[in-house]
Formats: sequence, C-alpha cells, structure tokens
Amino acid sequence: MNYGRFDSAAHEYVVTRPDTPRAWSNYLGSRRYGGIVTNNAGGYSFTRSPAEGRILRHRYNSVPAEQPGRVFYLRDRDSADYWSSAWQPVAKPLDRYRTETRFGPGYADITSDYAGIKTESLYFIPLNQEFEYWRLRVTNTGTKPRRLSVFACAEFTTEWNLLNDLLNLQYTQYIGEAAWRDGFIRASSCSRLPEDKANFANRDQSRWWWMTLVGGDIAGHDCDRDSFLGSYRSYDRPLAVERGTCGNSAGFSDNTCGVIQSDIELAPGETREVLVLLGIGKSEREGRATRRKFGTAAACEKEFTALKAHWHALLETLHVETPDADFDHMTNTWGAYNALVTLEWSRSCSLVYTGEHRDGFGFRDTVQDMLGVVAMVPDIVRERLVLMLSGQDASGGAQPDVRPWLHVPGQMKPTPPGNYRSDDCLWFFNTIPAYVAETGDSAFYDEVVPFADKGKATVLGHLRRALEFNLARTGRNGLPCGLLADWNDCLKLGYKGESVFVAFQVRLGLATYAEIAGAKKLTRERSWALAELKKIDRAITRTCWDGKWFIWAIAEDGTVYGSAKAKEGRIYLNTQCWAILSGYADTNQAKSALASVKKLLASDYGVAMCAPPFAKTPVKVMRAVLFNPGNKENAGIFSHTQSWAVLAEIMAGDGDQAYDYYRSFMPSAQNDQIEKREIEPFAHCQSTHSQFSKKFGMSRVPWLSGTASWAHYTATNHILGLRPETGGLRIDPCIPSTWPGFKARRLFRGREVHVEVRNPNELNRGVSHLLVDGERIEGNLLPLSALNAVTRVIAVIGN
Ligand code: GLC
Repeated sequence: MNYGRFDSAAHEYVVTRPDTPRAWSNYLGSRRYGGIVTNNAGGYSFTRSPAEGRILRHRYNSVPAEQPGRVFYLRDRDSADYWSSAWQPVAKPLDRYRTETRFGPGYADITSDYAGIKTESLYFIPLNQEFEYWRLRVTNTGTKPRRLSVFACAEFTTEWNLLNDLLNLQYTQYIGEAAWRDGFIRASSCSRLPEDKANFANRDQSRWWWMTLVGGDIAGHDCDRDSFLGSYRSYDRPLAVERGTCGNSAGFSDNTCGVIQSDIELAPGETREVLVLLGIGKSEREGRATRRKFGTAAACEKEFTALKAHWHALLETLHVETPDADFDHMTNTWGAYNALVTLEWSRSCSLVYTGEHRDGFGFRDTVQDMLGVVAMVPDIVRERLVLMLSGQDASGGAQPDVRPWLHVPGQMKPTPPGNYRSDDCLWFFNTIPAYVAETGDSAFYDEVVPFADKGKATVLGHLRRALEFNLARTGRNGLPCGLLADWNDCLKLGYKGESVFVAFQVRLGLATYAEIAGAKKLTRERSWALAELKKIDRAITRTCWDGKWFIWAIAEDGTVYGSAKAKEGRIYLNTQCWAILSGYADTNQAKSALASVKKLLASDYGVAMCAPPFAKTPVKVMRAVLFNPGNKENAGIFSHTQSWAVLAEIMAGDGDQAYDYYRSFMPSAQNDQIEKREIEPFAHCQSTHSQFSKKFGMSRVPWLSGTASWAHYTATNHILGLRPETGGLRIDPCIPSTWPGFKARRLFRGREVHVEVRNPNELNRGVSHLLVDGERIEGNLLPLSALNAVTRVIAVIGN
C-alpha cells in the first residue's frame, strides 16, 4: 500500500493520503530561521537553535502527533461548517475531503478540496530571511457566491528555551505577552528585560516575534490561546472558529497564540490569496520592514522561485538515469537533500529530536555528515571542517560536541580524560581526503587551525595528532582502547577495554596518512605511518580473527565480544565491514566474514547490527541490553551501518549482493508497502526493527542520521563509481549485473561530465578504458587534462 508517489521532474514527493501511518515531515529554512512542517501542516519554528530559540511550540509525542502547527481554518459563514486547509486538525471525513501534500526541498504545498472550495497552502522560509511565509489561495469551485472566514493560527512558546517552555510552567506561564498592534500580532517573552541580541545564550533578555496577514480584510484576532480554543477543546474545534468570530483577546501570561481572522467573499470561480508572515524581531521594527518588502503576492512568488532555484541548483550536481527509478529518486533528490538537511541540523530537530541534549554539532556525527555532501557544498564543508578541527583538543581527542555559539577555539576546557570517545577524530580520514579529492584543494592540509583548548597545527598535524591519540591509548593486546565509546554509543568496555572497530579505523587512518604524506613528499611522515600500520596489523592478526569472522571487542577484564563462543552478540556487523574497508582482511577472510554476515545478520529490511540480541550481558559493558531485542544497537537494523555492508561487498567485488543490501534499506524502495515501514518513504532513518523484534520492518527516527551521508556517498561514489580524485574523476561503477548500464551528468571542478556506462555482458564492474569525447584513454580515470566545459565519456564494463 502507498500513501503517495515521487514526482521526480519536480524534485517532489506527493502525499496522496493524509492519514499516513505516522506524521511525515519536511524541513524549512536554515539555522538562521528554521522549521519542521508535516504533511498536515503540523510542526514548529525556531531561530538558531531548536532548543534555545523555539518560537512556535510543539508538544513532543503528543496525541495527535502533529499538533499544534500552522493552521488555516476555513468557515462558511452561511452554513457554519468549518474545516482546515490541511486535513488535520479538523479532519473532515476523507470521502468528502480530498487533499494532496507536495513536499519539495524547503517547502510543503498542500492542496485540498472540500465543499466546493479549493485551497492551496504553501509553507516556506525564504532564503536568508528570519521569517516564514504561509500562503493561502482559496478558490470557489462551485456555482454560487461564497462567504468565508479564514483563521490563521499558530501557538507561540512563552520562553524560547524548549524545556522551560514545556516544563518549567511555574515560571514560563507568567512571562509571555501577545497583542494586536497596528496590523500585527506583537509577541514577546520577558518583555520588560532589555534585548541582548548579540548574546543569544543569555536567557535573561526579552525576545520578540510577530505575525501579520496581508491580502484580506482583518476581521478579528486572538492572542490568548485558551480564549481562542475554549476550555476542554482542542485544535479540532476551536470555540472562536465554531462561533465564527475571534474574541480579540490579548495574551498576558498563560499561553499566547497568534490568530488572525479575515473574512472573504468569493464569486464562482474566483480565487483569493492571503499571506501570513511570521518572524522574529519587534513588529514595529523587523515586522514592518519585512512586510513592506515581502508582503505582496509577487514578492512571495519571487522568493518561492528563488528558494526552488537554490535547491535545484544544488541537486543538479549529479543527475542519473538508471534502470531503478527508486534509486534515481534517492540519488537525484531525496538522498542528496537528506544529506544536506542532516548537515544543517545534525541531530537537533525533528518530530523525535528536540534539540535538548543534542543541540549543536555532535563530533563524530558531524564529521561523517560531510562525506555525502562535499560535491554539492564544498565551501560549507571546508568551513565546517575547520570548525570541527578546532573542536579537537591538543591531546588529539575531541570535544563531544561543538556549539558554534559557545565555541571559542583555543579557549575551551579540554575534555576530561574519561569523557573521550575513541573514534571521534578518526572520521576525518574519511571526510578530509574526500573534500580534497572533490576540490583539488590540497593546500588545505597545510592550513593552520587552532585546537579547542590550546595550541594549533596544520590540518595534517591535526590528523597526526588524531592517530597519536589512539596509538597512545592501547590495551593489553595492543589494540586501541574503546574509551567512553567507539562509534557504538552502547559499548562501555572499561577504560582499557579494546575496540576492534577502532583498530580498523586507525589502520585506515594510518594508510590514508601515509598516502597524503607520500603525495606531499614527506618521506619521514610516510615511514612513520607505515611502521605504525605494521604494528597495528600485527596486533589485529594476533587477536581479532575468530575463525569465521572478526571479533567485536575485548573488555577490560578480557571478555571477548563477538565470538562464536559467546551466547549473545556472537557476531557484529561493523568489524566485518571495517576489516574490509580498512584494507586489512585478506580475500578468504573477507569472503568468510561476508558470508557469515549474510547468513546470520541479513534480512529483507537490512542487515542487523549483531546477533543474537543481548538479554543477560551486564549493562555496564553493553548498554544495548537496555533496548528491546531487535531494536537499535541491540541487534536492530541500524541504518547508519548499512552502507558499510554495501561498501564491503563492493570492495569484495560482489555488486549484486551490494545492491541487494542497498535496496533493502533504501526508503524509496518501500514506497508501495509503506504500511510496514510507517515513516517517510523519502527519508532515511536511524533504525529499523530487525528480524529479532516483534515489529520487524518498522522504521523509526526519520531524517537526521549518519545514514543519509553514507548512503548518498555509497550510491554516488561506489555503486555508480563516480569518484573524484586529486587527478581527475575515477569512473569505476559496481552495479547489479542486471543493469544494462546507466547515464549520469556530474558537475566536477566547475565542468560538466556526461557519463554513459554500458554493461553488455551483465557484469558488476571492470572498466578498463574510457572513450572521452571519442578518444580512447586507458584505465578508468578521467584525467583533469581531458576535461572540457562539457565532456562526454563512454565506459563499457568488461571491455
Ligand atoms: C546514534 C548517534 C551516533 C552513534 C550511533 C551508534 O546514531 O548519533 O553518534 O554513532 O547512534 O551508537
């Protein structure tokens, strides 16, 4: 069963049934002013930080899930019937109420038909602005004139700090005000305190926001939420809407809101458009200036066109046509967009993430989040890399997260030794070379960046320090310690416990470092890295092979995890994949480890993280035991890791198996059986219930996950095999043997490359030469010297 379809030409997903199994959402705006919008116009808004700058309120995990939101109520003044321009919150019966939501990058556009009235409500935040647009178009599709009232409605927070607003009610129910003044709703928190805009973190200041409506006569307003709703009522039947008139209430303490009523009359066939603008600042200052500049239909349309053009230009970086339309939907639009959304928002805002605890940029997540977007936003990646490098301590370990508004490089307190994670800085070895390969900016390695606490080093120096950090913290088997955690948050091995995953990461780091040093002719650096690599290989060889697969970890007390002898967590996906990704595993080991993964972990919805699930293992070591079996780190299908399985299969040469794994967690592939997945078919998610769960196949925590970046990177650079290198673009696809080929258009170093891959012999990989604008080039590297403004390349697999 499906609830919608992809419209690839428009870069949109069209939700055709509003009663989706869970609320589906999309992202608006940027960190300057951002928001979430659901397929039923639920959601919230904030500025700078979802935890500290919350403007529109959202009650997490409430029933129904998406209320309050940005509501347009419509009421027929003759029949007294009323409904909403999105199906929720009034929820008219679906046999009489027809609706569709178009989600595109940065907007939601909801059309509905009910009782002879068609509405279109469009929600977006214009580029680089601090306000949101709600545009409502109302059309009389009947044959009689209609007299309607429109009520635009938002629930405000009282304090911009999320938790205070929702929980510290003995304080925050006495600080909000909202009132109608000169055509605006003027809302505030602690209005008697001075503003301190330069110091966002200062909670003892007044904050201001505003809302206005243009394009219709104003018939009334409400600024006190409970006057508008009436007691013991909810958003499905507000008293004021039922009655047909707002009470013109002022908001003073308790809960404030913004409701603006406009009465309109429509001749048959006539369309009227009203605009709501809602933003931060004082109504008489920012509000007025914004309305003057943006408060017309033409300005709104212009901003919407600019927003789409902005996103479409980013998505133009790569366009593919493959035999698998689901793959194309992800690669051309949703996978790319998901990776960009994750880059912007890290793990701070969704219907699940609140911003609390996880505001700012979590270190390891953010460094990985860049991998999938380097081609689209290289400049932002460079800036973010510098920010994250400045979050590395002089010790070589990292601050757990970087909050740009609090982060002062060189002056941060070093992370307490017991709080270091073992993997944080090792992710630079994936992302930095990818950035340099995309841009050719090898001078980046020489750029000097401060450490978080003290001192500074070149980027290469930061990389060395990262390796030294792990090399200096090894356990009794000579493997790197897991410290507070490695990639797996649930792994608590004790300070001296050893992580095999990190051993492979360090191995990859050393090999990469040697390569960079080699290219820079730093012979001693190269030799150092190669010598360390030999040492770590010896340690791995001594302890990490279990017979059929690689072990998981060795706890401080010597307990081995991930061994055939164990009862729980006998096999762990990550170490099988990373043994291969790091180049450690020999052919036989790779074969055997991957066969074990397939046999013991793989399922129709992805590969479980480990098996069997934990039930008795002490929680002190393996916190995964907290979770129900088959969930998250306790043998769930952790989406983030899926691409590693795909990459491992690609490196081992099995393109068919790789693609099977890729499709099994690809959201778009589940569009027509979405009742199983339940969440968005166009966004990745954190995890799926595995074969060990009672809810096998159900996915949870959509959008913000390391999955997005890794999946897009894997699809583009390794399945399609369009892989930038400093010297050119490698064309090394590893596709299903059933694909006759594919076409791609890739922007690379400011040029356009058109690639046609042909696969006449039904193989997976193996391009031995290229035809570049008709000329034969041996090997599969399209060299920079062969790049023209537009270059056409034909690559035949198996020739
Ligand atoms: C979550 C965290 C990530 C961690 C992973 C595995 O996705 O955001 O940092 O690596 O869980 O525990």
